Amino acid sequence: MINFKEEIAKKISKATNIDQEEIEKYIEIPKDTKNGDYSFPCFNLAKTLKKPPVIIAQEIAEKIEVNNSSIENINCVGGYLNFYINQNNFSKEVLKKISEQETFGKSNIGEGKTILIDYSAPNIAKPFHIGHLKTTVIGGALYNIYKHLGYNVIGINYLGDYGTQFGKLIEGYKRWGNEYDLTQEPIDKLAEIYKRINDLASEDEEVLNACRENFRLLENGDEYCTKLWKEFKDLSLTEFQKIYDLLGSHFDSWNGEAFYADKTDEVIEILEKTGKLIESEGARIVDLSEQGISTPCIVCKSNGSTIYATRDLAAILYRARTYNYDKSLYVTSYEQNLHFKQIFEVAKLLGLDEKYTKGLEHVSYGMVRLPSGKMSTRKGNFVKIKDLLNDTIEEAKKIIEEKNPDLEDKDEVAKRVGVGAVIFNNLATSRVKDEIFDITQMLNFQGETGPYIQYTYVRTNSILSKIEKVPEFDESYVEKLDDNYSKNIIKLLYNFEDTLIQVTLKEEPSILAKYLIDLAKAFSVFYNENKIIGDNAEIQNARVYLTYCVNKTLKQGAELLGMQMPDKM
Ligand code: ARG
Repeated sequence: MINFKEEIAKKISKATNIDQEEIEKYIEIPKDTKNGDYSFPCFNLAKTLKKPPVIIAQEIAEKIEVNNSSIENINCVGGYLNFYINQNNFSKEVLKKISEQETFGKSNIGEGKTILIDYSAPNIAKPFHIGHLKTTVIGGALYNIYKHLGYNVIGINYLGDYGTQFGKLIEGYKRWGNEYDLTQEPIDKLAEIYKRINDLASEDEEVLNACRENFRLLENGDEYCTKLWKEFKDLSLTEFQKIYDLLGSHFDSWNGEAFYADKTDEVIEILEKTGKLIESEGARIVDLSEQGISTPCIVCKSNGSTIYATRDLAAILYRARTYNYDKSLYVTSYEQNLHFKQIFEVAKLLGLDEKYTKGLEHVSYGMVRLPSGKMSTRKGNFVKIKDLLNDTIEEAKKIIEEKNPDLEDKDEVAKRVGVGAVIFNNLATSRVKDEIFDITQMLNFQGETGPYIQYTYVRTNSILSKIEKVPEFDESYVEKLDDNYSKNIIKLLYNFEDTLIQVTLKEEPSILAKYLIDLAKAFSVFYNENKIIGDNAEIQNARVYLTYCVNKTLKQGAELLGMQMPDKM
């Protein structure tokens, strides 16, 4: 398909002698088509060309020839250059392309490149709480989208399965394990045992020492302690898997923190040789003040033990050697901004090829908040994802019962709608913003929600079910689809692949979420304004064909976000 952005960038680049790629970055798609199909804000070049944007726009416009087959017209408005494309040729190409592609928007631009995505990473023996929902959903969407674009993607679940807390948990279990039935809600029980022993250890030095001893034994591979630790881990993983099954999460590696426990020595050795590892109050640290980070990175505590950062450094070494990655993403909340800033700086001292340190990227996100009073927090103040998902599914079921009591397979539909609503809500706003977890709002079929997209999809299904067979693409459709409602949809369909690419440039799945809302809205307008199944066979075929394209794209896009589409609802 013609890549208009590229075409336009080529022309501007020729006219200005500025790098084409640089130009392409600035090309925008105006909100209102009156301002063209593409637009180039010339103020971006004002500094380089030392001229006012209005003049730049005029000079470029004079140098560019318009040919009727792709770009039909150019005009200058203020400092903007607006480009109008030849709609007929464009529509023909888009519609034809969709008919040829089994999986829409699939491409191979990522071929030969490897992307690591470190996401979800809950801590074992602790509840999978709401903060981990967001990393699981954002990471999962990125995983699907990169794959779709042809990248080799490795999803890593870097479990929090190591640390002195396990020495405590083992001690607690030794003392009170027989009071608890770990076959039911094991994580709650382990969390309770942990709380008890933690309280006791804070008062009693002897207990604390016993905990430390357990951890030492665990580190040295003691059989009993290792067996317990493994049991805690297995119990946790079984619980986590239930959530992953609901969300459709997939991981290629489960190497957690414990996997790196015996790999931190090498990190320390390498850092020692650089001379940058210095003593400070008994601990060993790397000072980062020259890099503008005022808090040093602790590598070894004063008692000699390593910390979270040390294991993350060992993981960087291991991942560079094992995967030869191009990008290595870490999806966590912004609470860990400092941690990643620190370790990405220290990683530069590990002697790795620059490619690997340049490829490190922290994909941070905002907090999830509950609308106060609206949701039961169950026991204590911990809101568990399992409860949130189940509450949402239950609510979805009630709505479906009301709207469509005769629907078959209501439970499955409620699951798709409920989980889809949660996934979409996590991805609908740009990731740095805080999110409100409001079940009523996220299940609003008319709002900018997951269910709205599913509902629009179901509508397209019901239109398609009225005809015997989706007609093949025919060039004559183009003139039948020249109303603004249809043209708007065609343009959105064209933008699908670019939308996916934009997601990967900014690690921002909300770009796709917004796109799907726009497409669903555009279809709703088209549907309200145009009779799709009607008496004119030719028009009907063209409109049904367009409906089919929307159907395919909505499904493809929603699935890339991790949602499942119901056929009916
Ligand atoms: N387990 C950590 C937590 O719950 C997240 C781990 C993120 N990944 C990493 N490589 N540090 O906060």
